[in-house]
Amino acid sequence: MLRNIITKCGGKRIYDRLIAPVVSRLFLGQLIRKTGNFGSTTWLGYPIWQNTLDLWTIQETLAEIKPALLIECGTNRGGSARYYSHLFDLMGHGEIVSIDVEKLHELQLPRVQFLLGTSVDDTIVATVRERVARCGGPVMVILDSDHSEAHVARELEIYSAFVTPGSYLMVQDGVIDIVNSFQKQGRPGPLPAIRKFLAQHSEFALDQERCDRFMVTHHPMGWLKRR
Ligand SMILES: C[S@@+](CC[C@H](N)C(=O)[O-])C[C@H]1O[C@@H](n2cnc3c(N)ncnc32)[C@H](O)[C@@H]1O
Repeated sequence: MLRNIITKCGGKRIYDRLIAPVVSRLFLGQLIRKTGNFGSTTWLGYPIWQNTLDLWTIQETLAEIKPALLIECGTNRGGSARYYSHLFDLMGHGEIVSIDVEKLHELQLPRVQFLLGTSVDDTIVATVRERVARCGGPVMVILDSDHSEAHVARELEIYSAFVTPGSYLMVQDGVIDIVNSFQKQGRPGPLPAIRKFLAQHSEFALDQERCDRFMVTHHPMGWLKRR
């Protein structure tokens, strides 16, 4: 209704540029409060710590890219790895390496190799590099571990090298830098790291359309496409 009134008054540009972003930001804040930042979200009964709208964008991207290998930094209780592996089951192909510094699950999934250690550890990175070398298809990366700027910057430098042309390096939770409820925890988060990375890596471009897919997202500037 608000949109119709403003558009009738000739203000479509005002609506699109000023009002819609504010409404989206307010809605995202409410959504984060209502869901406890998606802390109790489940996939087939198992915990998965993800914004459900973003999960759909990831699903669409996995179907498009059809990765032979998906690398995930940040396993937590394994919900996202389980979700991706179920999608790969339906697609009939794809494997996953999921890394976490803590072991918070007892999962065993045929498509998933769980690695225990920090994502920037030399031994972990060497194991991932070896998997990439023998995977023979598109490689996609999702960074969802320590969201501090310094750690994301290190992960971006290391894991960007594994992403194949046309595929994605996805950086999660830039929301930390923009939504007020995260003001006291975790800043500076992923966004400054992403900006600096893009300025130095012309082989990657921000896919703004994918970031804006459902208007509200936990991952602003999160979808980086390898040219
Ligand atoms: C947001 S949770 C991951 C959520 C999970 N991807 C999901 O969707 O259910 C972040 C995880 O990153 C892990 N983590 C923190 N620092 C890390 C590091 N340096 N290397 C690897 N994992 C790390 C934490 O132990 C935590 O389990």
